[in-house]
Amino acid sequence: MAFSFRRSDFPDDFIFGAATAAYQIEGSSFGGAGPSHWDTFAATPGNVANAETGAVACDHYHRYEEDLDLLRSGGFDAYRFSTSWARVMPDGRNVNPEGLDFYDRLADAVLERGMQPYLTLYHWDLPAALSDLGGWRNRDVASWFADYTKTVMDRIGDRMAAVATINEPWCVTWLSHFWGIHAPGLRDIRAAARSMHHVLLAHARAVEAMRAAGHGNLGIVLNFEHANPASDAAADVAAAARYDGFYNRWFIEAITRKAYPEIILDGFAGHMPNGFEKDMEVIGAPLDWIGVNYYTRSNVAADPEAAWPSLKTVPGPLPKTDMGWEIYPDGLHGFLTRLHRDYTGDTPIIVTENGMAWDDHLVDGRIEDRERIAYFDSHLAAVRGAIADGAPVKGYFGWSLLDNYEWALGYGKRFGMVHVDYDTQKRTPKASFEAFRHAIGGN
Ligand code: FCB
Repeated sequence: MAFSFRRSDFPDDFIFGAATAAYQIEGSSFGGAGPSHWDTFAATPGNVANAETGAVACDHYHRYEEDLDLLRSGGFDAYRFSTSWARVMPDGRNVNPEGLDFYDRLADAVLERGMQPYLTLYHWDLPAALSDLGGWRNRDVASWFADYTKTVMDRIGDRMAAVATINEPWCVTWLSHFWGIHAPGLRDIRAAARSMHHVLLAHARAVEAMRAAGHGNLGIVLNFEHANPASDAAADVAAAARYDGFYNRWFIEAITRKAYPEIILDGFAGHMPNGFEKDMEVIGAPLDWIGVNYYTRSNVAADPEAAWPSLKTVPGPLPKTDMGWEIYPDGLHGFLTRLHRDYTGDTPIIVTENGMAWDDHLVDGRIEDRERIAYFDSHLAAVRGAIADGAPVKGYFGWSLLDNYEWALGYGKRFGMVHVDYDTQKRTPKASFEAFRHAIGGN
């Protein structure tokens, strides 16, 4: 089964890549990394499926050359990876030279294979020592993050094609401090409000530090989820607007308009850090690109019994992935055109993650992941549609290169274009990987 597009259906300079994240693939027990809040979260009963951790993961720390060879063989132009804060600064302060050496080798290895390195500085591995100090709830996180950013960029910044500060601030904050689903697992509105501001201040201080050091092509990676009212009842429509507010509008409006949406500030009343308004100028400093992660939509209904934001998500009618996520490519088209129209204008947009989990099984040494091929195909059609409608979309990264540690769901959810056997660490490219190779011209 093949894709319905060829590389030539996209603009000449369009970039195809694959994305990963440090904690999900490297193996956090190797190379002198310190514990991150994910190690401690996973070690607490009930937080992660089967109490699985990223201690070994895909052993990418030792196998990165093989993994990059594979990526290159697929014809991909770029590799999006993250550096682990807890690997670079195991106690949150002092540098682990082995950690920086690893990323130095990794950067060279990407370049040696003719690919562009796309760095993400924070994909969720906060050093546990900084979590002890309040992590994202503590305003000082902004200067801690700027220091870490300088440390990483001094070493590898000269070789990065593009740099993102934070991956998915919504997950770092709301999902982790209000819904309690990701580390540190808090369910506290005040923690949510404060972290939602501090994560943006940390982004801003890191950008400031990188600009001062002369680094360019800086961005942030935001995740967007289409908020679909569960019915046309006014209460459900209003609930979906609140969902859109805390999920989709909060971060992009801070960055592009230097203001938070009123409907969310109202809900956070009394919990925002004092004087947060004074930070909005630096938070709104211009960026060179915006990363968009998109997977699904949610069907949102009002829940008047519940405290603010007084809503719940309900199952929808569309076909679902192994995450239970509805497959809704129109949502990607919608966000790409909405960003361009309402927020980012001519600033380049890059789809930094998109993909699906499926219950893949090896049959005679092969994985025929037709569902994943169809998913990628329909979402790449949405990207082409958005480009035709004027959105400056410059690249697309599939999530993910490898099956990996899917956070609170452990190793049970497979998102890779390449299958990983966690007993033997054997990599097997799936049919979706072959489809990319065919469409974008690998060997
Ligand atoms: C995104 C994360 C990524 C991965 C995918 C499935 O929210 O950025 O690490 O878990 O979801």
